[in-house]
Amino acid sequence: MEQMFPGSVYGEITKKGFSKLLDIFEDHFNNPKGIFYDLGSGYGDLCIQAAKSSKIDKSIGIELHKQRCRVASEKLKDLDLSNVSFINSDFRKLDVSDATIILSSNEGMPIHLNSDIYDLAPKGCLIILGRRPHLKWRKKNPHVIFTRTEPIEKTYTTTKGNWYTIKE
Ligand SMILES: C[S@@+](CC[C@H](N)C(=O)[O-])C[C@H]1O[C@@H](n2cnc3c(N)ncnc32)[C@H](O)[C@@H]1O
Repeated sequence: MEQMFPGSVYGEITKKGFSKLLDIFEDHFNNPKGIFYDLGSGYGDLCIQAAKSSKIDKSIGIELHKQRCRVASEKLKDLDLSNVSFINSDFRKLDVSDATIILSSNEGMPIHLNSDIYDLAPKGCLIILGRRPHLKWRKKNPHVIFTRTEPIEKTYTTTKGNWYTIKE
């Protein structure tokens, strides 16, 4: 039976959209010591694409929704990618302090999670979000500047860019 999940409206960055992010952040994805996390990895395609199309060492997806995470893990059975893994969990419960890149398509997540993601990231980590932290948090943290990329193709929009910063 499908797991009951609050806020289960689902969308994805398309393959084309993620290729653009790989180009924009080429320096980070070309790092052979790079560790990429997709927080809320859905059906896992971004982690798989990152492992196939960049030089990073590891690609890890964390997904709360059991069935989505299971589908993502099953995709790995047909692929020769030993550096990709999927974890069925709330990402806030896990240690992501080895991350060099964190991506989260967090547009549908509760607004407080946006700043939680910033807090979870280690120093020097590239953080790429669908939505930046809320205004109150930004006013309290004026030194943290989020910049917007050019539009990234997603199943739910073709006009919105992602927000990014490097954790200080
Ligand atoms: C918009 S989808 C993103 C899918 C994929 N990462 C992409 O960008 O194409 C967001 C996913 O985040 C998951 N999610 C929401 N809150 C989460 C949490 N606290 N921990 C782990 N996953 C979460 C949802 O279940 C959903 O599958």
